[in-house]
Amino acid sequence: MCVIVLLWLCLASGFLLALLIHKLSPRFQTKHEQNPLFLFFQDLIRYGKTKQSKRDYWLHKLDVPKRWFWHFYAVSVVWNGLLLVLSLHLKLQNQSYPQWLTYLLSFLCGMQWNESQGVGSLFHQLDLGHLSGTALFISASLLQHSSLVTLARLRTGNSGTVKTFDHGVPHGGWFELVSCPHYFAELLIYVSLGLVFGGLSLTWWTVVSYVLFNQALAAQLCQEFYMTKFEGYPRHRYAFLPFVL
Ligand SMILES: NC(=O)c1ccc[n+]([C@@H]2O[C@H](COP(=O)([O-])OP(=O)(O)OC[C@H]3O[C@@H](n4cnc5c(N)ncnc54)[C@H](OP(=O)(O)O)[C@@H]3O)[C@@H](O)[C@H]2O)c1
Repeated sequence: MCVIVLLWLCLASGFLLALLIHKLSPRFQTKHEQNPLFLFFQDLIRYGKTKQSKRDYWLHKLDVPKRWFWHFYAVSVVWNGLLLVLSLHLKLQNQSYPQWLTYLLSFLCGMQWNESQGVGSLFHQLDLGHLSGTALFISASLLQHSSLVTLARLRTGNSGTVKTFDHGVPHGGWFELVSCPHYFAELLIYVSLGLVFGGLSLTWWTVVSYVLFNQALAAQLCQEFYMTKFEGYPRHRYAFLPFVL
């Protein structure tokens, strides 16, 4: 098994384990709530609004700013931009991929990248996976955007000026079904890319499983935050996956 698949599987398993431990923890919470290991675990799995307000001084030393996430986008834009430009260039020149790129893509995607994937006109290469993946990608991105707009409006109202930094109860649209439709949309976005790969990239499905478990954990913590903070919070809402979780 390729090392990248193993890495993603480890990350996914780590989040699944954390989710299971957290789900079981209320049973021994009162007994262990002062235990440093228990406190450390709870601190490790939380960020943003679900982070406890009173934390030991040393725990703050482990914090990193959320804005550091821009590295992820910088690497992604540069790498995928290069791939796109190179692919289009080779296509227009009617040349095949260089061997180093074929090896690298096979290694990263966990599937055999063969020459037949780069022949034929771009239009003739379109298949059901590309079309359904693109449709899902667009719908999920719209869902994520509208959900984040709803969250932003809890702080700004319709004026666009920030009036409060408090958290409120989101209503409307998919928020009536789940507490975190933006996390659900995130999962769908990753699934949509799996469809574009024709469902054949093992590596990608391990990435999807990682997103599934880390967003499930974040949604669970968010749901608990809402239930604790807002007395009348709608109990029928699921946390993450409509009618499932
Ligand atoms: N693919 C991955 O592995 C991965 C991992 C993490 C996140 N993400 C994606 O990144 C996006 C952001 O994630 P996130 O965990 O930062 O989301 P989040 O905690 O829900 O926060 C999103 C924004 O909405 C605000 N907000 C959240 N709940 C609110 C409420 N009830 N009232 C008012 N404002 C509220 C937050 O402010 P505060 O910060 O002040 O709470 C923040 O500005 C999501 O779409 C998520 O799916 C992806």
